[in-house]
Amino acid sequence: MKKLIVTIDGPAGAGKTTVSRKLADRLGYRYIDTGALYRGVAYEASHLGISSEDDERLKRLCRDLKLNLTRSKDGLRLIANGVDITSRIRTPEITMLASAVSARAPVRDYLLGLQRELGKEKCAVFEGRDMGTVVFPDADIKFFLIASQKTRALRRYNELKLKENMTIEKVEEDLTRRDANDSNRDLAPLKAAADAVIIDSTDLNADGVVSAMMAHIEDV
Ligand code: DC
Repeated sequence: MKKLIVTIDGPAGAGKTTVSRKLADRLGYRYIDTGALYRGVAYEASHLGISSEDDERLKRLCRDLKLNLTRSKDGLRLIANGVDITSRIRTPEITMLASAVSARAPVRDYLLGLQRELGKEKCAVFEGRDMGTVVFPDADIKFFLIASQKTRALRRYNELKLKENMTIEKVEEDLTRRDANDSNRDLAPLKAAADAVIIDSTDLNADGVVSAMMAHIEDV
């Protein structure tokens, strides 16, 4: 089997998570959800009352933080200093805070090292925002997944509505704000690498996207 690093970047709600998981399963690779790592830092900062603008305290937090992604029968678990925080990182508050802390240099520096360490063994699908541009500029194959804003908002709403009291309008508003934060920041903004394959998932289901990706991977 080929030993590749596959990167999948794109805006929130484009379907990256479902597709990355399925693609990793098809390839027998590890799936690395790098957004969960940013969410983990955000959760720890909020737990300790650290502001997303306090670079000094964020730096100390990262210095003392050991984040781990482990596999379990119900998917990936995020472990922070030995505590499983998986069920606490998907609230709307942590979602917005993750976007805010992800713009800060100490957080990006810390996670850059961690992500590259996780990539050393190759055979992994990395999902995020800057996988193909910054973390793995030499990745074997890079994808950038997009979908129309309405489609993305609807997907996110369907995911959240069971857990949170959200309206589609609020979901779309949060998504737009987050995309603007993630795309306009100075450090590692969300954008497609020049050599990324762009796939529009507006009219494709997850299996359709995975098949399109597999066709490109077979050519590598
Ligand atoms: O993919 P997600 O929604 O779980 O990511 C949460 C936030 O983390 C997102 O708003 C931007 C940030 N992020 C990032 O800046 N770089 C990454 N590689 C992954 C996520």
